[in-house]
Amino acid sequence: MKSEKAVELVQDTLNPLLSKLEARTADVGVIGLGYVGLPLAILYGRKGFRVTGFDIDPDKIEKLERGESYIHHIGGGAISGMMREKRFAPTADFARLREMDAIVICVPTPLDAHREPDLTYIRNTAESISAHLRRGQLVVLESTTYPGTTEEEVLPILEKSGLRCPVAPYAAKGETVEASGSLQPDFFLAFSPEREDPGSKQYESHQIPKVIGGVNGPSALAGQALYKQAFDRTILVSTSRVAEMAKLLENIYRCVNIALVNELKLLCLKMGIDIWEVIEAAKTKPFGFTAFYPGPGLGGHCIPIDPFYLTWKAREFGSPTRFIELAGEINSAMPEHMVTAVAQALNEHHVCVRGSKILILGVAYKSDVDDVRESPGLRIIELLQQNGARLDYHDPYVPRLHKMRHGDLKLSSIKLTAQSLAEYDAVLIVTAHSNLDYSFIVRHARLVIDSRNATHDVTEHRDKIVKC
Ligand SMILES: NC(=O)c1ccc[n+]([C@@H]2O[C@H](COP(=O)([O-])OP(=O)(O)OC[C@H]3O[C@@H](n4cnc5c(N)ncnc54)[C@H](O)[C@@H]3O)[C@@H](O)[C@H]2O)c1
Repeated sequence: MKSEKAVELVQDTLNPLLSKLEARTADVGVIGLGYVGLPLAILYGRKGFRVTGFDIDPDKIEKLERGESYIHHIGGGAISGMMREKRFAPTADFARLREMDAIVICVPTPLDAHREPDLTYIRNTAESISAHLRRGQLVVLESTTYPGTTEEEVLPILEKSGLRCPVAPYAAKGETVEASGSLQPDFFLAFSPEREDPGSKQYESHQIPKVIGGVNGPSALAGQALYKQAFDRTILVSTSRVAEMAKLLENIYRCVNIALVNELKLLCLKMGIDIWEVIEAAKTKPFGFTAFYPGPGLGGHCIPIDPFYLTWKAREFGSPTRFIELAGEINSAMPEHMVTAVAQALNEHHVCVRGSKILILGVAYKSDVDDVRESPGLRIIELLQQNGARLDYHDPYVPRLHKMRHGDLKLSSIKLTAQSLAEYDAVLIVTAHSNLDYSFIVRHARLVIDSRNATHDVTEHRDKIVKC
């Protein structure tokens, strides 16, 4: 499996690390215990590793120390059980990074106020590691970012420690690596994108193949040795840049295809054609077509943000990224279309938006998750409020809306009853959570505006439903 050539060159640092990873006696540190880092820490704990979770958020550390979870799909039981077995320990003490054999970085990569990459979290984390870096450690970046971040941003900060990890070409051949040149890295550095599909029950994390690219051959092998212990399949690529770009390609592919169906939906609405029926028909083609679905706009930490990491980097090379820009334009206009659709539907009922009472169903950015980051529901609430409507929301996963980077809506989820539903001039379905009873909603609401085709199985009172 391992290339003899690569291992020979760094026997004294690589071999001990590989042995510890293979025996699962290695200490694994996960930095950033959010939606990506916490499940990853638990996965490694379950595989028998001793995992230390690092975070700068004292609330998260306190909750974890009490054995509590702050992420809907992770039960507190999993955390407390693992802590009892000494498989997981949360901490804000970054000096403990020195004890780790492998360190995985899962911190945020947002856009700044000018919609440009904000690498502050990655840089700060790299500084924390650099202060405690020791020979033989593996560092892997998992945060989504533009190609070159691992080599150009993380590596120089880590090398401030005085330790070296030279960038060197290698060939990735299936599961093996052929290193070239004589190389003695003091530590190992790789990039491996996180590919989680939050809320989806279709794939367990370990079933999603893990792409790994190192800054040199030994780093790729070290990364592979780490992930092989927890993931069914690892895919080695020839540089960390390829791994970084692969993640962006996946997300840009989604972003562009969603924009395409959003645009076609608007056309279909005007032509009196049901886009949902069109997609169902098209997807019966067994090759060459992947179904994407329209919606009220993009949300989440990934699809609305990641493509713009690449457009920013592309400027350095003078290369236009027109597809990404156009997709961004179409997708970000969708909340405005929702507001127009609400106004038109109310108009049909002789109600004007100003002074109307509207209930938003679902503020999480996608079904069956509790994550509201970049959610179009929040933008739609703001736009409707600006138009004089009175807004409430119901979301079984989001009891209240906390203060966020872009504002504070100060709303709490209302209880969904026959009586409460009847109070609203319109109910706008923004997120199709699977645990909501859409027949009940349609029965008791006066008007239902459905941006997700959530009511497709409702048979009664269909005259109350407007698709948008
Ligand atoms: N959420 C997803 O579904 C998903 C999927 C694929 C990729 N990603 C990517 O993974 C990365 C992490 O995303 P997330 O959703 O887990 O973010 P998150 O905001 O849920 O969690 C990030 C955590 O990092 C902590 N943190 C910030 N700075 C830190 C520092 N200097 N040291 C230690 N901890 C620090 C924060 O307190 C927070 O707990 C991002 O780059 C994101 O684009 C996310």
